[in-house]
Amino acid sequence: MTQQNKRLRSVVKGVGSALPQRCVSNRELEQTVDTSDEWIVQRTGIKQRYIAGEGETTSTLGAAAARAALAKAECAAEDIDLIICATSTPDYTFPSSATMIQAELGITKGVAFDLQAVCAGFVFAVATADKFLISGSHKRALVIGSETFSRILDWQDRTTCVLFGDGAGAIVLEAQESEAPEGSESDRGVLTSHLRSDGRHRAKLYVDGGPSTTQTAGHLRMEGKEVFRFAVGHVTDVMRDAFAATGVTADDLDWFVPHQANRRIIDASAQKLGIAPEKVVTTVQYHGNTSAASIPLALAVACEDGRIKRGDLVMIEAIGGGFTWGAAIIRW
Ligand code: ACO
Repeated sequence: MTQQNKRLRSVVKGVGSALPQRCVSNRELEQTVDTSDEWIVQRTGIKQRYIAGEGETTSTLGAAAARAALAKAECAAEDIDLIICATSTPDYTFPSSATMIQAELGITKGVAFDLQAVCAGFVFAVATADKFLISGSHKRALVIGSETFSRILDWQDRTTCVLFGDGAGAIVLEAQESEAPEGSESDRGVLTSHLRSDGRHRAKLYVDGGPSTTQTAGHLRMEGKEVFRFAVGHVTDVMRDAFAATGVTADDLDWFVPHQANRRIIDASAQKLGIAPEKVVTTVQYHGNTSAASIPLALAVACEDGRIKRGDLVMIEAIGGGFTWGAAIIRW
């Protein structure tokens, strides 16, 4: 192997997650919202979600998930020099949730910042961390997705409030030099990432407030059918880009871990690209849509139960408000 075949890869070292204490079933929601378990399950696949209580915030959940990921990675907090927290529901407008998590973990070196790409935030954060790590500028990253969407829901609007939940997930990525032949089973790490946005679709999914407009946090508003149509129509674009860039095919994938918005969007996307149903990791039934937290929460479940193992080929994919969308292929 010649010197020029060496390359830096961002390798996953550990995954962790954290959920609020309170789990709210569809049946419990029926008590306060004009809805039914049957409607929610049939339209979305969601059976329950976790709702943050007093003292549980995006930064506290994010810090708990980060701690769990560090433990799995057998990595000390002081060895982290990059923290990216994907969130649309920060504790405060500023400081960032990432710097709050950094302080909570006792980390005083490196850099920490938030990244906002709504439900696509975790894929955007993985892609961003990967670019830092493979440039050689940073060595070890905590990539976190943490959300408390329950705090921006209009609980009088049954078309949105039944869909979302709170939670956090995190992964530790480490820059490692690889001499393995590109695309081989020992070529571990983030192999490719593809991101897109198109701001013309703002009105289909947005929050109707903010510091520079209403000076409030606002509430989530959504044209559900339009979001559904766009999600199924477009998220496969970036998945195709990821396949083309790596030569990986749907058959080569061991696991497909999509954003957990809705069972029907997940199934339609997988079917469109010919990904076998048994390779699809689905956790929307347990967590609801936790926006930027949904993929790392699903990764944590599938790693914990032994499905995702070292050497597996994993595709992550998400679409969110903006619209923003992206996909990445990772050799675990
Ligand atoms: N409980 C009971 N009935 C309801 C509820 C509810 N929670 N919400 C709406 N309904 C009623 C409506 O009022 C309507 O009644 P009507 O026929 O008497 O007027 C009926 O159910 C059908 O409503 P639709 O909006 O047509 O329902 P649809 O089949 O489109 O499902 C849903 C709605 C689930 C929101 C769907 O459009 C969807 O999944 N969209 C994608 C949205 C999404 O996942 N967003 C997540 C954020 S973006 C992302 O993460 C990608």
